[in-house]
Amino acid sequence: MSETRTRNRWDEVFARRTKENAADGLSSILALANKTDLISFAGGFPDPSTFPGAELADHFDRLVRERDVSAFQYAPVAGLPGPRALIADRLERDGTRPGEDELIVTSGAIEALELLGKSLIDSGDLVLVEGPTYLGAIMAFQSFEASVRAVPLDEQGLDVERLESTIAAHGRPKFLYTIPDHQNPAGITLASDRRQRLVEIARHHGFLIVEDVAYRELGFTEDRLPSLWSLGPDVVVQAGTFSKTFIPGVRLGWGAGPRELVASMVWAKQNTDQCATALGQRLLEEYGRAGGLDQQARRSRALYSRRCALLMEALEAHMPDGVLWTRPRGGFFSWLELPEGIDGSAVARRAVDEGVAIVPGAPFFPGVGGAGNVRLSFSRVEDDLINEGIKRLASVIEEHIRKG
Ligand SMILES: Cc1ncc(COP(=O)(O)O)c(C=O)c1O
Repeated sequence: MSETRTRNRWDEVFARRTKENAADGLSSILALANKTDLISFAGGFPDPSTFPGAELADHFDRLVRERDVSAFQYAPVAGLPGPRALIADRLERDGTRPGEDELIVTSGAIEALELLGKSLIDSGDLVLVEGPTYLGAIMAFQSFEASVRAVPLDEQGLDVERLESTIAAHGRPKFLYTIPDHQNPAGITLASDRRQRLVEIARHHGFLIVEDVAYRELGFTEDRLPSLWSLGPDVVVQAGTFSKTFIPGVRLGWGAGPRELVASMVWAKQNTDQCATALGQRLLEEYGRAGGLDQQARRSRALYSRRCALLMEALEAHMPDGVLWTRPRGGFFSWLELPEGIDGSAVARRAVDEGVAIVPGAPFFPGVGGAGNVRLSFSRVEDDLINEGIKRLASVIEEHIRKG
C-alpha cells in the first residue's frame, strides 16, 4: 500500500467536528510562548516566580510520610471532601457558598467548559461568546459542533444591547459564555450595571450564563465587582481555575452552579477522566489551609500590576499614532487595535524576526473578526525586557504603516 493512500485513509476517519477546529488553535500559541530566545508577549502563562517553593515540598513530604491514602487513591468524581470545603469557603468569601451538590472539582477550567459542552450541546446548538474571547472556550464548544457566535465587547465589557439584538436575530442560545473580570484576551472588566442586566436578560429569555472567573483574583486592587454567580445563582454556572493563582501543573479548577447542571457535569466527568488529580487536590488543600493561596495571590497581584504599568508606559512611549490599546485593571492581557488596514497576523509573523512573540487577534473570534488586533500578555515578560519588546513591536507596526 502506498504512503499516499495511507494518508488519505486517515483523512477519511476524522470525525466531522474536527473540521471545525479554529486554525491550529492553542498549540501554536503555546509553542511560541515556550520559546526562550524571544521576548514573549504570547501565552497567558503565570510567571514561574509566583509558584510555591519549599512550603509545597513540605506539604508533599508530609503527605508521603504519613501515607495519606486520599492523595494517592482515585478520588470521588466531584472531588475530595477537604479540597471541596476549601473551594466552598473561598467562594463564600466571594459572595455565595455552593451547596454540597452545587460544586464539582475539575481538571482545570478548560475541563469545566468541556463538561458543560458535553452535557448541554447538541450539534448545531447556538452558543454565544464575547468577541473576542478565550480561544480554548471556542475550541471546546466547537468540538461539540455548537454554532458559536460572538457578541461584541466594548470598554465596559459585553455589550448587553447587542446581546439582545443577537438573540432577536438568531434565537435563544443554549448558553452565553463570558469572562467578566480582566477578560482574555481584551483585559476588559464587565461594568457593575451590566452584570445585573445580563442576569436579568438570562432570566427573561431562559438561558444559562457560563461565567469564567480565571482572572478574578488577579485584580490590581483588592475591590471586586460581584460575580455573576452571586447575582444569579439560578441562571449561572461559574467555571474557575487554580492555574493562575496556584500552579497550572496540577490542572485544577471548579464548576459551581444549579444542582441539576452540576449533576450533569459529574455525569460527564465519569467517562472523561473520572476524577481530578487527587494528589493535586490534597496539595492545594494543605497549601490553601496554611494561607499559601492568599499570600501567593497578593504577590501575584503586585507582580502583574507592576508589569502592566511597565507595558502601559512602553506602549505610550513607542507606539505610532493610530494604535489603540486597553488599560487592564487586572489579569494578564492588553488588546491592541492596529491602524486601519494593518493585518495582525502579518505583524505577528514579522515580529518573530525581530525577536518578539505576540498573538494575532483573529483566532479569538469564532467567525470573522480581529484581523486588525493583536493580544499582548504581560504576565511572563521580565520587567527589564518589556520596554525593549514593545520598542521592537512598534517599529514592526511602523514598517507596516509605511508600506501601507
Ligand atoms: C479565560 C480562561 N479560562 C480558562 C483558562 C484555562 O484554565 P485551566 O488552565 O484551568 O484549564 C484560561 C487560560 O488561559 C483562560 O484564559
